Amino acid sequence: MYNFTCMKFFIDTANLEEIREANELGILDGVTTNPSLMAKDNVTGEENIKQRYLDICEIVDGDVSAEVIATDLKGMIREGEALANLHPGVVVKIPMIKDGIKAIKYFTDNRIRTNCTLVFSPGQAILAAKAGATYVSPFLGRLDDISHDGLALIEELRTIYDNYHFETQILAASIRHPMHIVECAKIGADVATCPLKPIMQLLKHPLTDRGLAQFLEDYRKGSNP
Ligand code: G3P
Repeated sequence: MYNFTCMKFFIDTANLEEIREANELGILDGVTTNPSLMAKDNVTGEENIKQRYLDICEIVDGDVSAEVIATDLKGMIREGEALANLHPGVVVKIPMIKDGIKAIKYFTDNRIRTNCTLVFSPGQAILAAKAGATYVSPFLGRLDDISHDGLALIEELRTIYDNYHFETQILAASIRHPMHIVECAKIGADVATCPLKPIMQLLKHPLTDRGLAQFLEDYRKGSNP
């Protein structure tokens, strides 16, 4: 069910500098990664990828999604167990496919937390929740990219999960700009995972800059009349 305590902020990157910068704000609750984000940061090969997860877990006190590469049940279980054993903060990220649902159920039964990724429809999200996923990741930006309403999907998931008190948390992913974050907060997404840029863009307002410049100028005038 919707967590009324707080909307969580995750950063969606494998880049350690960006993770540190977001973490220093003091508002970071976790990190999501995927194989594309690892490759973008030139982290390749199983051992280097595992090391990167450990480095991320050292920086951030929160949930760190680590994605399996296998697409068959046995492979996902093997990889997922190895990832979960790396660090208590690791959440095993599993793709929304048939064996993925079976793997999520297996991990749920074995008390390993999961994030069901690549979710684009309410039906997929129902299956993930029924299997006991800790998080479900609807990709709202990629729906917008193909002229579907990504935020409408987040709203549908909120309604469905609340109808049945599903504990699966809605992790709004593929966020592209600060208004996506604001709209997700209005809908009641449990988590927003975003690149560093939209997080930092939330800070910005021209009236803040103008007002601060005026305050400082008036202070200086007052100090040096
Ligand atoms: O968390 C999912 C995210 O990494 C996908 O984002 O921008 O590649 O659609 P994007």
